[in-house]
Amino acid sequence: MSAPVIAIDGPSASGKGTIASRVAKRLGFHYLESGALYRVVALLSLREDTLDEKRLAALAEEMEVSFDDGDILLADESISDKVRSELVGSRASEVAKVPALRQALLKRQRSFRRPPGLVADGRDMGTVVFPDAQLKVFLTASAEIRAGRRYKQLIEKGIDANLRALSRNLRERDERDAKRAVAPLVPAPDSQVLDSSALSIDEVAERIVGWWQERKGGRT
Ligand code: CDP
Repeated sequence: MSAPVIAIDGPSASGKGTIASRVAKRLGFHYLESGALYRVVALLSLREDTLDEKRLAALAEEMEVSFDDGDILLADESISDKVRSELVGSRASEVAKVPALRQALLKRQRSFRRPPGLVADGRDMGTVVFPDAQLKVFLTASAEIRAGRRYKQLIEKGIDANLRALSRNLRERDERDAKRAVAPLVPAPDSQVLDSSALSIDEVAERIVGWWQERKGGRT
């Protein structure tokens, strides 16, 4: 039997990344931040100034990306800060519409599934990449709360940010992600929806770990 998967999907700045890596640590599971893969393709697409679909799929297939304890490496260049910029985030949601690129990333994403288990975050973890995930969570928060969280994150990193522009950017990205033809951002029918607007990071992580323990308890 393949290793268990906890899929955590949701819109931009819903807190998926922080929560998913915390849940993975708590359970001793591997962690896949699928958005980072889309962001790396976006960075390459900006560097080459191309939106050619075949080229994007080839880049996704061939790029030498690795993750090292939160650091993202392209061959041996550390690109963490670059891929986390808003510019790259917006480009990521554009390139993410390309079916051939999504297809090219499928195998790479699935290769993260190894014992003792995987926590994967993104937009289509529970619907497309790991439809057999044992637990699927759809994490949301109001647009205002999400924009505020993203603002705080950027300011803390010393990156200049504008709350209004951020809100606009988030809404545009939500709309693009929800409306695209392939793997749109929608909750899997068998997912648990969790609104984190009024919850702390710890509370959200604990709730997910609790659901996981209930599932495991129910199976054995
Ligand atoms: O951190 P944030 O939620 O803003 O974005 P992200 O998770 O890093 O993803 C960046 C973009 O990649 C998203 O806006 C999506 O368009 C795309 N993406 C996707 O299509 N499918 C995924 N599984 C993950 C990300």
